[in-house]
Amino acid sequence: MVCLGNICRSPLAEGILKSKLFRANVIIDSAGTGAYHIDQKPDSRSIHIAKINGIDITNQRARKFLVEDFDEFDHIYVMDHENYRDVTAIARNKEDIAKVKMILNEVFPTENLDVPDPYLGGDYGFKNVYRMLDEACEIIAKKINPDG
Ligand code: 4NP
Repeated sequence: MVCLGNICRSPLAEGILKSKLFRANVIIDSAGTGAYHIDQKPDSRSIHIAKINGIDITNQRARKFLVEDFDEFDHIYVMDHENYRDVTAIARNKEDIAKVKMILNEVFPTENLDVPDPYLGGDYGFKNVYRMLDEACEIIAKKINPDG
């Protein structure tokens, strides 16, 4: 799960998908394309919206997306067009690029919709982001582990 800061959207996506796939043998992680918040906890508003939905993301720490992540992960879900551009910019080949997907295309295929960056907005933005990511992660979880 990749966003810009790795403190708002992608930590939520990581926490939500982990909560839906806790029985599956999969590695789920998140990272940011920017380095502004390395080693920081998720934004308090992301921690809050996760908590009221029964998910604890307080142990996460922000890190930067690295080219090695293309080797570690089969699927790389980005939140918006800017993330897509930044992640594919360091791809080494077409196999790397093929792993990168706009996460809301799971819900609205081929529409290339962005998960809006909630960082500079109010709490409502986080609620909205949570709802979008929950819907997308539900579909991803079913694909990865159809037996639930
Ligand atoms: P995120 O939100 O990409 O969802 O983690 C942001 C967090 C911080 C910044 C931008 C976006 N920032 O510019 O500091």
